[in-house]
Amino acid sequence: MDQVKIFDTTLRDGEQSPGCSMNLKEKIEIARCLEKLKVDVIEAGFAIVSPGDFESVKTISETVKDCTVASLARATVKDIDAAWEAVKGAADPRIHVFIATSPLHMEYKLRMKPEEVLEQAGKMVAYAKKFCSNIEFSAEDATRSDLDFLSRVTEIAIANGATTINLPDTVGYTTPDEMRHLIEYVRAHAAGSEKAIFSVHCHNDLGMATSNSLAGVLGGARQIECTINGLGERAGNTALEEVVMAMHTRQDTYNVGTRIDTTQIYRSSKTVYNIIGQQAPLNKAIIGKNAFAHEAGIHQHGVLANKKTYEILTPEAVGIVANSLVLGKHSGRHAFSQHLEELGYALTKEEIDRCFEEFKDICDKKKNITDADLEAIVTHHTGNLIPEVDENGYSLDWFQTSTSNFTTATCTISLKKKDEKFQAVALGDGPIDAAFNAIDQIIKPSEHTFDIFSINSISEGKDTLGDVTVKISSHNKTFTGRGLSTDIIEASVNAYLTAMNRLAVFESKSKDGE
Ligand code: KIV
Ligand code: ZN
Repeated sequence: MDQVKIFDTTLRDGEQSPGCSMNLKEKIEIARCLEKLKVDVIEAGFAIVSPGDFESVKTISETVKDCTVASLARATVKDIDAAWEAVKGAADPRIHVFIATSPLHMEYKLRMKPEEVLEQAGKMVAYAKKFCSNIEFSAEDATRSDLDFLSRVTEIAIANGATTINLPDTVGYTTPDEMRHLIEYVRAHAAGSEKAIFSVHCHNDLGMATSNSLAGVLGGARQIECTINGLGERAGNTALEEVVMAMHTRQDTYNVGTRIDTTQIYRSSKTVYNIIGQQAPLNKAIIGKNAFAHEAGIHQHGVLANKKTYEILTPEAVGIVANSLVLGKHSGRHAFSQHLEELGYALTKEEIDRCFEEFKDICDKKKNITDADLEAIVTHHTGNLIPEVDENGYSLDWFQTSTSNFTTATCTISLKKKDEKFQAVALGDGPIDAAFNAIDQIIKPSEHTFDIFSINSISEGKDTLGDVTVKISSHNKTFTGRGLSTDIIEASVNAYLTAMNRLAVFESKSKDGE
């Protein structure tokens, strides 16, 4: 059976979408997840875009061992130099060079004649090839390009050393029939096409990204570019979990395999949602909460008699395990760490200690701790979510709120910073607003916008943990904070403080010229 390579661009195209920017720790956490998921290629970023992007592509290149790591580059010397500098430490580096090929893009964006585009594409692929044997060439806006022109640019790219040819549906405009035809046409008309792997990269503007990618596979594409949860510009990219499970479930139609460990899909999806501070829509294919729920009596009856009546794939196949009640206040450290291991976490001793402390705190407030609670605790205490707070950060000492449906809410709060304590009282539209106003009085933050404030419950029941995400923007950057508690005001305060501390760390580093 032919293999289809899975090229994940969550860290590049996904991260480009509004509200989804990530810091270095978050990106490394996602890269580790992708490695466990066994994607073939991780597009770690667009190295030339900023020093931060360069740093993250470089760090991921040096961290990941089992996947190809790519950096995007426009077809210019400067971009390719930056991309190579960033990926050269990878076990298997790739430079991904792109230039637009549609009449619209060539005339209005590039202001180049078609012949100039052909020449630049050839020259720049050859330039990248001097550094790296693994070169991907993308013809941006391929689906609105002339097919013969696309075939010419493809043969030039291959002649100059491109090993993968990607034909993106940049604006999510194409249809499955067209996509299949496009791949078949270019493979048939570009000389040397048998030397390269053809790839599809679809956007979801018309909701057809998954279908279009799969149609590309039927046309002979053997790489799909996609993102976890379909994150990406505008309506997003092809969702990794959808194309992988479609090929897996419908082998009779696609007759291809992938290297993906499908049991890591759910965990990867959750990690990405946690990091961007969102939750999966309930009805999201493959990973939504309702994807395997059977409410209608007639369905339940069928499923009880034989699961296959209404279930085409199992929750276990994507790594969803029954949300059992697992641990409680009497569970010891050993049982706790063993259970985390069983859930697939490999934590350091320090991380386990920190998680165990929080677990004990939560046990005082909540009788039964479920796997979902444990996952939330781990997410809050490992890698990306440990606030990058140096000793100058603020933390919560105590707070008290007063609220009713006939008075204005007030909050009195005490924050700690090193050995000092700071107190303030403020009013607000509800206790959370009052608490944030009191924090602002102490911290006096610089101007920022509030992008996301979300409160989600981790499990069922009245005593569920509240998982709060706060995202603020300032200096054209996003700062995320998360808090976890059975008390949503406490969770909100901790999330807000984390985001504020991150902003303060950024400002002090910028002042020091780092
Ligand atoms: O959508 C697109 O065309 C892209 C390319 C840069 C590959 O993201
Ligand atoms: Zn794209």
